[in-house]
Amino acid sequence: MIVCHCNVLTVEDIQGAVDELLTEMPLRVITPGLVYRRLGTRGRCCGCFPLAIDVINAHIEKRLATDDLAERRQQIVEQQRAYRANMPQRRRMAADA
Ligand code: FES
Repeated sequence: MIVCHCNVLTVEDIQGAVDELLTEMPLRVITPGLVYRRLGTRGRCCGCFPLAIDVINAHIEKRLATDDLAERRQQIVEQQRAYRANMPQRRRMAADA
């Protein structure tokens, strides 16, 4: 499934970048901007960022079961969810569409 139409990034592209980033820096907060830079691009319209955050969080949660740093990562996921809940209404609507 394509997440970012501007850069033609798929769920698998994002998950692969998240895996690389977490391997290099396990405690780093993974943001869409960080993932896109890893993939050699950047946000253009950034309309995909809410969905990208969901994909990133879902992938991190999937990894939690086998991760030594599970508790810290869970805190990060909760911080990102709180950030998303406080996003402007129009961005949340785009993410839910
Ligand atoms: S849809 Fe991803 S930057 Fe525009």
